[in-house]
Amino acid sequence: MKIIQVKDYDALSERACSFLVERINELENPVLGLATGSTPEGLYKQIIKKYNQGKVSFQQVKTFNLDEYVGIERTDPNSYYYFMKDKLFDHIDISLDNVQIPNGIAPDLRQECEEYEEAIQAAGEIDIQVLGIGANGHIGFNEPRTSFTSRTQVADLEASTIEANSRFFHSIEEVPTQAISMGIETIMESKEILLLISGENKAEALATLLTCDVTEEVPASVLKKHSNVTIIADEAACSVMNQV
Ligand code: F6R
Repeated sequence: MKIIQVKDYDALSERACSFLVERINELENPVLGLATGSTPEGLYKQIIKKYNQGKVSFQQVKTFNLDEYVGIERTDPNSYYYFMKDKLFDHIDISLDNVQIPNGIAPDLRQECEEYEEAIQAAGEIDIQVLGIGANGHIGFNEPRTSFTSRTQVADLEASTIEANSRFFHSIEEVPTQAISMGIETIMESKEILLLISGENKAEALATLLTCDVTEEVPASVLKKHSNVTIIADEAACSVMNQV
């Protein structure tokens, strides 16, 4: 794993943007894996800026999001579908036909997961998967002790994840307790992975990831088995790691 340390969140967002734009411009039909949450928001803002400057186009790009809450309509501002449209897709030249986000209100969730996997296979492999990390080491919504052989599935959210994500909702009771998430094996099949880590509240997770054995107790530790992972982390996120 290669680690790029940058000063702060703005620098992280700019670096991640250059990284992604370079890949999009190199590849003929890029397939991107995307994340939601606070971490990639700055990256998406930078991408919109680059698009407005004519430095990147998404006409040939296909995207697959990591996850979506179960039981939330796509029109709900807390859905990840809404987030992606609001933060990125509505501001660039991507066709919504090329955008895939699991449907958290599908009548048959198991079938939805199977079809999501099939759609990823049909698109060929994901060229570059953007990830954030939970303070508990989760990637996607694959919480500690999720099998490394998991594929897209309905995941139960840990209490700590529900608590962390309650900042987006009116009350903690409104936070869904389940999500559809790409599995760990699905994520590991991406050709390249870009993990973004920002802020002091992720410093412990980064230090643990770097020092622990590869274990299902720390889902992100699986990334040590992938041959092409770049971590971009800001100083605050590196604060514990730099003391070890
Ligand atoms: C989001 C996702 C999650 C987040 C993680 C960090 O699609 O899959 O794993 O990346 O929970 O979230 P933030 O960036 O909000 O700290």
